[in-house]
Amino acid sequence: MNKFFEFDYYKQKLWEKYQSCSDGTAEMEEKMKERFNHSIGVVDMAIELIRIHNLPIDEEKAKICAILHDYAKYCSMEEFQSIKEEFNVDVEVIPEYKKVLHALLGGYIVKKELGIEDEDILKAIETHSTANSNMSPLQEIIYLADCVEAGRSGEYFANIRKIARKNYKKAIAIFLRDCIERILSDKTKNLHPYTLNAFEEYKKYLLSGENKYEQVLSALDHNLIKEVKVYDVRNSSPYFEYIIVATTASSRQMQACVNYLKDDFDIRGAEIGDAWSLIDLNDIIVHIFKEEERERYGIDRLYASYPVVK
Ligand SMILES: [Fe+2]
Ligand SMILES: [Fe+2]
Repeated sequence: MNKFFEFDYYKQKLWEKYQSCSDGTAEMEEKMKERFNHSIGVVDMAIELIRIHNLPIDEEKAKICAILHDYAKYCSMEEFQSIKEEFNVDVEVIPEYKKVLHALLGGYIVKKELGIEDEDILKAIETHSTANSNMSPLQEIIYLADCVEAGRSGEYFANIRKIARKNYKKAIAIFLRDCIERILSDKTKNLHPYTLNAFEEYKKYLLSGENKYEQVLSALDHNLIKEVKVYDVRNSSPYFEYIIVATTASSRQMQACVNYLKDDFDIRGAEIGDAWSLIDLNDIIVHIFKEEERERYGIDRLYASYPVVK
């Protein structure tokens, strides 16, 4: 099939699928139309996020994945059970998971009914409801675009949409946190383990401001980094909140500390040297020097005009 026409083809298929699930009542027709528009909204949002964040995702693939992410939305529990058995999928088809089964089994359904074999697309459909750890950029963007597409109205969604445009990993973390809270307070719902796995991985993106720099300080302390100085640059820099300068006794200790920070924080960039390492934690910059080098570089003199927090 000509690639140019693929998206329109699958869009048509989604419409036909929804029509086949409708009982013909005006109410149901309206619901299907809304659902269809939601999927168009997810396509637009996915493309917008890919472009804003310059992500390495094939846009055509993203569009097909987005338009089909809710393809299995109206399948019955019997259909889910039968697809589970046919593909031997390790998913519990139980009422508590009803809301997420269209995702967890949706990939198998589009594979069977539409012949889609692309693993990236199938996986992103599978995790669009629960998320998971180790998601690919396409999985992340489909999950997030589903959460924040423009059709989701209200202040909460407007706010998270704004964050998604600025820091999409943070937006995923916020949405996961809120989702977990919501599910745990509702006794009729079961929290899927994939969602917990995802939150474990993304929660580091929630840290910001003082809370975050306190955590960085305790990470430095844990790694025996000494002579820590924190400069508050919130009033001077449009990019950073704090600059931390610290001293280490050896290159080995410096490397251990950098690895520790990498595990616990979202690192935007790092220059790791033998005598000086610079770690960019988005809103906090950390300089770690070997003892004899800190004075030589004169870094503290450079930041002397900023207020010292610690
Ligand atoms: Fe969905
Ligand atoms: Fe959706």
